[in-house]
Amino acid sequence: MASMTPERWDWINDYIHQLFGDPDDHLAGLMARAEAAGLPQIAVSPDVGRLLGILAASTPGRLAIELGTLAGYSGIWIARGLAPDGRLITVEMDPKHADFAEAEFATAGVADRVEVRRGRARDVLAQLVSELEPESVDFVFIDAHKPEYPDYFRAVKPLMASGGILVADNVLGTSSGWIDEGHGTDPFNRLVAADPDFLATMMPMRQGLLIARKR
Ligand SMILES: C[S@@+](CC[C@H](N)C(=O)[O-])C[C@H]1O[C@@H](n2cnc3c(N)ncnc32)[C@H](O)[C@@H]1O
Repeated sequence: MASMTPERWDWINDYIHQLFGDPDDHLAGLMARAEAAGLPQIAVSPDVGRLLGILAASTPGRLAIELGTLAGYSGIWIARGLAPDGRLITVEMDPKHADFAEAEFATAGVADRVEVRRGRARDVLAQLVSELEPESVDFVFIDAHKPEYPDYFRAVKPLMASGGILVADNVLGTSSGWIDEGHGTDPFNRLVAADPDFLATMMPMRQGLLIARKR
């Protein structure tokens, strides 16, 4: 079999992006608007957004939690995958990001189903644990502070319904480097891999996605 080369890897990623890009002009322009407003370009790519939408839609889609809203790009994909009366709670500690995302959720037509919770993910999760019914969350996307991923996992686990899907970004690397260089989320990856209540795997899309289904 022909070997993978850096050039082939780039070509394949371009090919995927050509075939599976943004579905509409609003999403296609969102991160450019965010950059113009001074937000960092650290959203998921369109193909990862699609995967989030597909996975959210493969659950009953009643309630979803996202940790790390940024400009609302991934949140729009998730919200569109939910049931018609489904709800997304997305958590963001930076008020500028939260304000920007709220405006984008409105333009995307999903403001009625998305609530932006402002604050640190660990603090907001502690509130949600006392607010939400156990086993009521169908979909979770973790994309906030990487060293805190194990804490996020421990907090959301009892909230997740049987059959619920958890996705985490940057599990194989960040903008600072790759997992073989000490970046990524190795303690979290090992925690989920060893948890018998989840069937999990990873995909080397972008900087690595972990996907886990609660049994
Ligand atoms: C990688 S970005 C999220 C990208 C977004 N999920 C997307 O793909 O469109 C991470 C976001 O998490 C926020 N964040 C970082 N640490 C956080 C924390 N401890 N609690 C809440 N938000 C946090 C940052 O301000 C940033 O907006």
